[in-house]
Amino acid sequence: MPGTELFGEEEKKEVMDVLNTGVLFRYNHDAQRKGQWKAKEFEAEIARFTGAKHALAVSSGSTAVSSMLAACGVGYGDHVIVPPFTFVATIEAVLLAGAIPVFAEIDETLCLSAEGIRNACTPKTKAVLLVHMCGAAADIDGILAVCNEKNIMLIEDTAQALGATYKGKHLGLFGRMGSFSFDFFKIATCGEGGVIISNDEQLIKTAEYMSDHGHNHEGDNRGMEQHPIMGTNFRIGEINAAIGLAQSRKLPLMVAKQRANKATIQARLSKIPGLAFRKQCDDAGDSATFFHLLLPSADAAFALHKELGAQGIGTMYWFNNMYHYIKQWDHIKDLSMPYKLVAHELGLPQDLKTMTFPKSDAVMSRLVSFNIRVTWTEAELDAFLGKVEGAVKKVMEGVVA
Ligand SMILES: Cc1ncc(COP(=O)(O)O)c(C=O)c1O
Repeated sequence: MPGTELFGEEEKKEVMDVLNTGVLFRYNHDAQRKGQWKAKEFEAEIARFTGAKHALAVSSGSTAVSSMLAACGVGYGDHVIVPPFTFVATIEAVLLAGAIPVFAEIDETLCLSAEGIRNACTPKTKAVLLVHMCGAAADIDGILAVCNEKNIMLIEDTAQALGATYKGKHLGLFGRMGSFSFDFFKIATCGEGGVIISNDEQLIKTAEYMSDHGHNHEGDNRGMEQHPIMGTNFRIGEINAAIGLAQSRKLPLMVAKQRANKATIQARLSKIPGLAFRKQCDDAGDSATFFHLLLPSADAAFALHKELGAQGIGTMYWFNNMYHYIKQWDHIKDLSMPYKLVAHELGLPQDLKTMTFPKSDAVMSRLVSFNIRVTWTEAELDAFLGKVEGAVKKVMEGVVA
């Protein structure tokens, strides 16, 4: 991922600013911190980059989703439509909020489809938690139309899609709120961290109170102000924020480089007959973090994954992956938790143990993805593509199975 590929002196400099003051906490200690407010600067940088009016940094992408659900008033017994292809954190956040996940089908956008959402609506549906999977947009127009028609709110888990846009507007700004993850495997990383964006000041304020035990941060002495609500500790620390700040400044370069490399890959691989790609709702807005191949059959996809693996090229065959596709989520289907959840009491409207997702399976079983690197030289990318082309052709001609 670009964040780890381009990690360097800029990150160290920002961290040293913090270490030189010794103020690791994002609030208070005004004199000792000598003008260093890394969390605030990180938020300002993400707001500037995405065009959001407001941004709030928190401790992770997971706590960002929990904060959004809380700020939007999603809780006890509410039904929340979620995709079967995401990172499990999306589903965990819904369950931890006391809400009930309702799974809907995805399509070749790799995201929830408008039709899937429509079919999954129940009288208790309060929100769609839309995941823009693997760095590119879902069918926003179609999904917004269903949300408006059914009077349900759209909340965007944009953890994997920082830098991606739809018709020129950054993902995360189409629903009430959007969240990003800065964990170690994202486009930009700060080790562990998350950022929520919104154009609604009150929602961001509520998320802010939620992230710090309900403190409203008014005045200059945090801890002695009012608590409009209860909350918990989802705060980001200054060291993580400092790294996030340095990484955020590199986002325009990262996205531009990924997009340029994607164009090269697309031009080469689209010459292979019978090979298809992820359906893009706005190709130009793809953050181009991943490249996705759709093979003619599940067997061909798995064979390609194995063949490239044998050549030392790691690809993702998400269909069998433990953390990203519902097929392997027995712990979620069993609602396994050390304590009682609202979902245990109210039950799920779907029997996840017997339920099938034929449309999602049809896409996922044929999908093979790989990361687009930003530090590839022209020669390295050329050699990489040579191997991918060779393997795809072998698989398509039935030479390997
Ligand atoms: C879609 C999605 N949501 C939420 C998260 C959680 O982010 P974090 O690891 O920062 O808690 C991730 C992380 O992989 C993710 O991919």
